[in-house]
Amino acid sequence: MGGMEKTRVLFVCLGNICRSPIAEGIFWKRVRELGLEERLEADSAATGPWHLGEPMDPRAAAVLKKHGAYFDHVARQVAPEDFERFDLILAADREVERDLLRLAGAQREKVRLITEPWGGGEVSDPWEGDEAACEETYLELEDLVARWIERIAGGPNGDS
Ligand code: 4NP
Repeated sequence: MGGMEKTRVLFVCLGNICRSPIAEGIFWKRVRELGLEERLEADSAATGPWHLGEPMDPRAAAVLKKHGAYFDHVARQVAPEDFERFDLILAADREVERDLLRLAGAQREKVRLITEPWGGGEVSDPWEGDEAACEETYLELEDLVARWIERIAGGPNGDS
């Protein structure tokens, strides 16, 4: 529909070098496949300060490249404006969700656990694993991101 406001999704994890960039790469890939570039937008951010300004983890980059979902990424931290700018702020785990809720102020309802479409639970954290662990995380996030996009855009054609 012309002139429709975009829905903006922010993926958040602890470091913004593994889980949330993987989710963001999957999101953009799926949006391109569905032709929803005019309706959906995403970014990702960290709750923690350790990796700001760094590119994504090499294992995450390798997995995204393998799936045709790689993009240029620089880690950044969640900022107060994010709670105004984004419509949905998806936390990679409960610790991240807790930290986001502390920062969210009046925008608390925008903060959700990324596993909500599964009814809760956790996405595998590949931080201490190898590339195979990253692949596992990718597959979990691929399913979850598809479910979120379906919720937001209303089906595979985004027309309902
Ligand atoms: P991410 O992974 O939150 O998926 O980006 C991590 C990255 C860095 C750290 C922990 C998790 N860290 O402790 O530095």
